[in-house]
Amino acid sequence: MVADTREQAQEQISELVKQLNGWAHRYYVEDRPIVEDYVYDKAYRELIELERLYPDLILEDSPTQRVGGQILSGFEKKEHEIPMLSLGDVFSKNELEQFDQRLSKMLVEKVDYSCELKIDGLAISLIYKDGVFVQGSTRGNGVIGEDITENLKTIKAIPLRLTEPVTLEVRGECYMPKKAFVGLNKKREEQGLPVFANPRNAAAGSLRQLDTRVTASRQLSTFIYYLMEPEKRGLRTQTDVLKQLHNWGFKVNLESQQSKNMEEVFKYIDEYQTKRADLPYEIDGIVLKADDLATHAVIGNTVKVPRWAIAYKFPPDEQETVVRLIEWTVGRTGTVTPTAVMDAVQLAGTTVARASLHNPDYLKEKDIRLLDTVKLHKAGDIIPEVSEVVLTKRPANSKPIEIPAECPVCNAKLVHLDEEVALRCINPKCPALVKESLVHFASRNAMDIMGLGPKIIEQLFAKQLVSDVADLYHLTFEDLLKLDNFKDKSANNLLTAIDNSRHNSGERLLFGLGIRHVGAKVAKLLMVHFKSLTKLVAAEEKEIAQLDSLGQVIAMSIVTYFNNTEVKKLIAELADVGVNLEYQGPNTGASVNNYFSGKKVVLTGTLDQLKRAAAKEWLEASGADVVGSVSKKTNIVIAGHDAGGKLTKAENLGIEIMSEQQFIEQMEAVK
Ligand code: IVH
Repeated sequence: MVADTREQAQEQISELVKQLNGWAHRYYVEDRPIVEDYVYDKAYRELIELERLYPDLILEDSPTQRVGGQILSGFEKKEHEIPMLSLGDVFSKNELEQFDQRLSKMLVEKVDYSCELKIDGLAISLIYKDGVFVQGSTRGNGVIGEDITENLKTIKAIPLRLTEPVTLEVRGECYMPKKAFVGLNKKREEQGLPVFANPRNAAAGSLRQLDTRVTASRQLSTFIYYLMEPEKRGLRTQTDVLKQLHNWGFKVNLESQQSKNMEEVFKYIDEYQTKRADLPYEIDGIVLKADDLATHAVIGNTVKVPRWAIAYKFPPDEQETVVRLIEWTVGRTGTVTPTAVMDAVQLAGTTVARASLHNPDYLKEKDIRLLDTVKLHKAGDIIPEVSEVVLTKRPANSKPIEIPAECPVCNAKLVHLDEEVALRCINPKCPALVKESLVHFASRNAMDIMGLGPKIIEQLFAKQLVSDVADLYHLTFEDLLKLDNFKDKSANNLLTAIDNSRHNSGERLLFGLGIRHVGAKVAKLLMVHFKSLTKLVAAEEKEIAQLDSLGQVIAMSIVTYFNNTEVKKLIAELADVGVNLEYQGPNTGASVNNYFSGKKVVLTGTLDQLKRAAAKEWLEASGADVVGSVSKKTNIVIAGHDAGGKLTKAENLGIEIMSEQQFIEQMEAVK
């Protein structure tokens, strides 16, 4: 879709922005996506192209304005017109009863409550002018916060434009979902960076980034729960406020509930204390608010907290246990990580006996020793973490743990690269490293070799059947029969899975190589641009760095990797054994051997069930080249009814012909 005139471009830009924002709203605000990623990506790329041609037509609520890129020099102070209050805490149901009694005494009418989850993030304030997001800030000390508008713009759950042109201020919580937190810490551990203690710290750190691209990459989200001057909108209860916030396009927590009495409140607490571990974000309690807004003025505030609301904090889920062993393991990138092995305890619904201690600095800082009694909790409700040592229970003769100087697997000398906190084994032949890289190579987002898990790899390695990823493609039936419990069928299945992986689209291979800083997303981006691994190998650092502003660090890591003679040999060997090095088009990543991938397809005649544009879009997304006329080069003709000359020509040329129904069946088959 290319616009011929400025007017057309303007119209298309506005349409695309509306469509993309609608899809993003469904995905990020409502958690109910309606389109596949590739459909979004395609429209997004069209928008980028139009905006490149007509930069002055870029709309302020365009999704392209969320990617970050500004390097800020610092954060301006922002004075809150009305202070951002905090909440009083209570830790028992008894204290909640007292709170309820206090309110009941002050008010004539019976008190209803809005029960809400207490999201463990940090408070933010958002200001909209005529429906457009203009300024956002942190709470700071409640009176003066920091202007973090540019960082907040990168958060997809924050609408850049509301459904109505209203001027208002709202407040809510910015948080990092548990999954994002776990992923971020895992990546940081691998990269030798310090990890965040919990999702709240991670969210806070992410919001205060001067490079807004970093914020954009952190997958933050928000729940908005407070509207200033609600009476101006004729809203009478907090429950109505939440509904109205939702209608304006804000992400509102849907677990809130109106309660008529303390019995219902206690039920809500008990319910969410149980559900807590399964929620995708961390909560540290529930918030009870008098639902009737008119009463807020009557009840009033103290200097710091409102008297009409209170936070009930969940008791911390913490257990004491004894450390029996510190285990040192070598990861895929050579990081040597200490893990505390402890007596098993029950924690937030699971049995826990191990906790990563991340890196030597962390271990030293916490000074965890053998036979120490430690307090264990779950960060982000998921990752077991040692919170502290119970020093009063420390055995008299204990000594600090010694940090190993040599790799526990290959005995090579360990190093600290640059300023990293991580300890690394940099011996490329270290068996632990090689094994981990094989596991990564075979994993789902990489080459997706079914049945080739860590245990099989361990055996292949121990029996010296493989020493690098290319060796996998030399494995024979007889080789596989040497593995424990392997019979004809299992050997055949694994051989077929390995064999099939040769045809994967190139980004899977690129990701599978395990180059530092090249995750699945970066791998895809690189292959979409370079089309072939061979071209990427030959690419200049500058070209890579400029691509979608990947930057110097990633570019350097890639160039350094491909400059290595061993790597060059490995790539040549992979090509030799028939592993595909090319990019095979969008949406080929998940379904290997896509029927239409790389084929020239002609659509002709009238389709009954599908819109032609949709069929075309789907085919292109599957890697097909949809062309207008039939020639010798055409691979498939999809013929609706009343197909004329093109169908005849295809028949004469002996080209594969598919009915609409057959086409739909193929579409279903590769979904
Ligand atoms: S209401 C005057 N509602 O908890 C309104 N706060 O410990 C005060 N928080 O500063 C806030 N979830 O950052 C409110 N549903 C919720 C909340 C919530 C989390 C945070 C907020 C507040 C802190 C107090």
